[in-house]
Amino acid sequence: MDNAVEMRHVCVRRGGREILNRVSWSVDEGQRWVVFGPNGAGKTTLIRLLAGRMCPDEGKIGVLGEDLGQTDPAQIRSLVGLSSADRDAKFPSPISVLDAVRTAAYGVSVSFRESYAAQDDSRAMRLLADLGISHLARRTFSSLSSGEKKRVGIARALMPNPEILILDEPAAGLDLGGREQLLRSLEELARSQSAPVMVLVTHHAEEIPPGFTHALLLRGGQVFACGPLESVFTSERISSLFGMDLEISRHGGRFSVSARNTENMPGR
Ligand SMILES: Nc1ncnc2c1ncn2[C@@H]1O[C@H](COP(=O)(O)OP(=O)(O)OP(=O)(O)O)[C@@H](O)[C@H]1O
Ligand SMILES: [Mg+2]
Repeated sequence: MDNAVEMRHVCVRRGGREILNRVSWSVDEGQRWVVFGPNGAGKTTLIRLLAGRMCPDEGKIGVLGEDLGQTDPAQIRSLVGLSSADRDAKFPSPISVLDAVRTAAYGVSVSFRESYAAQDDSRAMRLLADLGISHLARRTFSSLSSGEKKRVGIARALMPNPEILILDEPAAGLDLGGREQLLRSLEELARSQSAPVMVLVTHHAEEIPPGFTHALLLRGGQVFACGPLESVFTSERISSLFGMDLEISRHGGRFSVSARNTENMPGR
């Protein structure tokens, strides 16, 4: 298994059903993937497996050449940065934005040191600057808006210099301005040669940052389509994924979707 990620015939069962069913997927160095599909398709389950947060009931998962079944989950967690709404909001005590990012270098979410190494400080400040929020460094994390918190979550996930960065719905709940700013930061990251492999989960085509290269479509726990973004993200495929007549258009690297024939929409 030499790819950044190699999943073979992965199954996860919960509540008497397969929430992931024989999923196979390979990710190479330098690729930026979108994981896309309806609610309940299995997207979050898939990335939690990838991030070493849970184990499959069947199948093999290789991450950066390590077989997940044979490797200490802590080692995988140090290689794979994960930012998701339920993780990012959790800090056991009040913490500054700078500390929220610095502590991630040690895989913790409390400020346990009186002083951090100067290189931790400068790396945390650089990441905050890359994400456009260096002016918030001294603010309390809990006082931030949800868009600002999302950016801190991404800086936190990047702090240990992961080989793979996973973002679960980074733009969910943001207003238009917040979403566009975040997408610009993610586009810059996606285009940077030194950035890790990226995997971004979203339900909205408009939230795919330019610079992303591949897409994995999931439905009902199974792979519906997988490959280069332009060949997977077509009107035909996305219509078939959602069972409705949708038109996908692309301008300046951004996608948009509209329903072509509202007469035939489900529920009408
Ligand atoms: N512990 C569990 N017991 C029973 N069902 C579960 C359990 N965990 C997840 N599921 C189900 O597995 C399916 C996939 O969940 P998952 O969170 O991976 O979906 P998702 O694609 O991320 O959805 P969303 O777009 O709503 O975030 C859902 O139908 C969910 O209800
Ligand atoms: Mg989810």
